[in-house]
Amino acid sequence: MTSSHSSVGSSSVVWDRGLIDRYDLSGPRYTSYPTAPQFHEQFGEAELQSAIERSNAAGRPLSLYFHIPFCVTVCYYCACNKIITANRKRAMPYLERLIEEVAMQGRLFDRSRPVHQLHWGGGTPTYISDDEKRLLMAATREHFNLLDDDTGEYSIEIHPGEMDVSTIACLRELGFNRLSMGVQDFDPVVQKAVNRFNSVDEVRELVDAARVEGFHSVSMDLIYGLPHQSWQTFTSTLDSIIDLNPDRLSVFNYAHMPHLFKVQKQLDESALPSPDEKLLMMERITEKLLDAGYVYIGMDHFAKPGDELAIAQREGVLQRNFQGYSTHGGCDLVAFGVSSISAIDNVFAQNHKQIDDYQGAVDSGDLPVARGFELSDDDLLRQEVIKQLICHFELNFADINKQFAISFKEYFAEELEQLKPMADDGLVDIGEDNIRVSLAGRLLIRRICMTFDAYIKKSTEIRYSKII
Ligand SMILES: C[S@@+](CC[C@H](N)C(=O)[O-])C[C@H]1O[C@@H](n2cnc3c(N)ncnc32)[C@H](O)[C@@H]1O
Ligand code: SF4
Repeated sequence: MTSSHSSVGSSSVVWDRGLIDRYDLSGPRYTSYPTAPQFHEQFGEAELQSAIERSNAAGRPLSLYFHIPFCVTVCYYCACNKIITANRKRAMPYLERLIEEVAMQGRLFDRSRPVHQLHWGGGTPTYISDDEKRLLMAATREHFNLLDDDTGEYSIEIHPGEMDVSTIACLRELGFNRLSMGVQDFDPVVQKAVNRFNSVDEVRELVDAARVEGFHSVSMDLIYGLPHQSWQTFTSTLDSIIDLNPDRLSVFNYAHMPHLFKVQKQLDESALPSPDEKLLMMERITEKLLDAGYVYIGMDHFAKPGDELAIAQREGVLQRNFQGYSTHGGCDLVAFGVSSISAIDNVFAQNHKQIDDYQGAVDSGDLPVARGFELSDDDLLRQEVIKQLICHFELNFADINKQFAISFKEYFAEELEQLKPMADDGLVDIGEDNIRVSLAGRLLIRRICMTFDAYIKKSTEIRYSKII
């Protein structure tokens, strides 16, 4: 069994190949608990409306998510919910429905609730023209209480190879203060294999413009495990990335599931790196980013020590939501657009996944919710346990006992028993008062969380990608 130790600042991980080989089963990423496969169609508009009433009574701040599904070309690795079309005229009919949905939902929410967080995701949100962006933001401002003092966390995903630099100023004018760029890989051979192109120069021009415009934070997405990648090629991409100096990085493990995402069949499977090569890549990526001064947040995420994500983790207030990690806790998440998921009070509600169904529902004057889930007390308890472990690698029994009026050790006696082999293997330390995830366990955090997932036995493994 080999192990190596990467450490910088407050954050560190230990690589133990033997443990990774043993525990690297398929597992959910826990952007929600219960996970999306548990959502069902008995949940509808009435259940969503009751949840909104309860959330208004509680008066929490809001987080708004907008899904813009269009992309001009398809990236062959893509597992996102998107519609490929070069015909930009398709955007307006969709935007009209999106704006109508904003109005419909806006009527149900207490207008005074401040919007602490806002995110446009896709697809490619920058597919729509600057004028269309202005329309959508104006409608949002009309129906919701956006913060005008730049204190909200307002972010947008951009495709750097598909965007004109002048749009950066437009985004800032609209109130965005964070950018998330899908870079994936700079190697020309890899880019050609996955049909996704953006050069270092294009990315640099956008990053420079974002700094001039006063964006607070720039985040970049990379993927390892794509065809023709090796740790050597990826090291060269990382050198360019480190030079570009983003505040946050998401380095995703390529999830190859061609049975679910048909477009992935276009990839040459024989050129995919072997599991050993992927492990080596993740190990080198971690070492290199820690050496460059980033902190390992957890689950593919890295941030500069001064970034709000790293600060939130240090202060014990880090959150997890559908976009990954987040700093804003205690918000109700209201989502708009095709396939988007809201998290309001104790429910999840997902809109129709097909654009025609989505648009048809809005045209009929209905909230376009297709399915959802109402969390029981047991679900809420397990949700909190999983959140604590995934965000902080530590769980204090007393906190949970106080919050949920239970005795953790009695309630989770079976789970604590199931954790014992992992404790024997050094992934977790089970103390009298707490569970601590070890440095070696951090990379396998999904596996540890799965112990507390009441639904995992009922789910089929093919829904989830491998952990590493
Ligand atoms: C929801 S996508 C949308 C981002 C935007 N459309 C773009 O491509 O820049 C967000 C990120 O998911 C990641 N991603 C997409 N497909 C993936 C896959 N099959 N495995 C791992 N990560 C993936 C990419 O890094 C991408 O930037
Ligand atoms: S990765 Fe992004 S740009 Fe590429 S097809 Fe998927 S959603 Fe569109």
